[in-house]
Amino acid sequence: MTSASYPATRLRRTRATAWSRAMHRETLLTPADLIWPLFVTDGAGVEEPIASLPGVSRWSVDGIAKRAKEALDLGIPCVALFPNTQPDRRSDDGAEALNPDNLMCRAIKAVRDACGSDVGILTDVALDPYTSHGQDGLLDDRGYVVNDDTVAVLVDQAVNQANAGADIIAPSDMMDGRVRAIRMALEMNDHPNVQIMAYSAKYASAFYGPFRDAVGSGGLLKGDKKSYQMDPANGDEAMREIAMDISEGADSVMVKPGLAYLDIIWRAKERFGVPVFAYQVSGEYALIEAGAAAGVADRDALLMEKLLGFKRAGCSGVLTYHAPVAARLLNG
Ligand code: PBG
Repeated sequence: MTSASYPATRLRRTRATAWSRAMHRETLLTPADLIWPLFVTDGAGVEEPIASLPGVSRWSVDGIAKRAKEALDLGIPCVALFPNTQPDRRSDDGAEALNPDNLMCRAIKAVRDACGSDVGILTDVALDPYTSHGQDGLLDDRGYVVNDDTVAVLVDQAVNQANAGADIIAPSDMMDGRVRAIRMALEMNDHPNVQIMAYSAKYASAFYGPFRDAVGSGGLLKGDKKSYQMDPANGDEAMREIAMDISEGADSVMVKPGLAYLDIIWRAKERFGVPVFAYQVSGEYALIEAGAAAGVADRDALLMEKLLGFKRAGCSGVLTYHAPVAARLLNG
């Protein structure tokens, strides 16, 4: 990149007025860049505020359908669903994940009924909302999360969600080989157009706490998820994860959490040129809200700057609990 030296070049020239700044803006954020994660709970007409995620609630299936309508009205193209499974339906093997009438499947159908195919439905594949131990997979005698037997269950979970009407299957479990296995099963079960958005580079992060409250797995979890989720120190390994998931048939990949991993997003986009999504996770949301409440900065300005950062780093879109707030701001 070349430019003349000062004073022939004055980079402040184009910044002097609002119209000129608008004209030279390199990155555009729109509501179509947002995916809205929603938490589902049992019952009817239920809204349960989540203390660690101020402004976010669990909704019963009827409320989820209303939120999906709201997404449609705001120009948000896709919602992501996460169930808070009743305690008596959680088990060691997470079998409730395969129940065609589970909370997740009922929510998928309710969104489909309310919005037709105008809103995308993304569903998380992993066993943690269904296991009595809060881990994403099956445990052996020593408490190790086993890979291949877990993948077999995840495949059935994915097909169960696709049968209910999911548009995008998003495996968040970090098992090896699950993308290929799920892709093959979707092809064989008459779901050739159901997408896979792989949580490819998902780190063992301290930012997931409020999410675990929201799905009710936090209190159950003993230990951590470091034997399957990635070490935050590693970037090259993330490129290998992403390369593998693409080769196994992922339509798009995800980096998670978001803000501390912008370099991973950038590297992935530069290297592979595939659609990359970021998950601005629960802890990131909660910190923005807490910062604003503490008077650090204006909430809206903080969240818009962060979302723009994801786009600038190369994201096609961002999963964020701030999606409706951001969309309203963008829609002016
Ligand atoms: C479950 C899952 C998690 C998140 C999304 N899917 C939690 C975890 O891995 O423990 C985190 C999302 C968030 O914090 O907002 N596999």
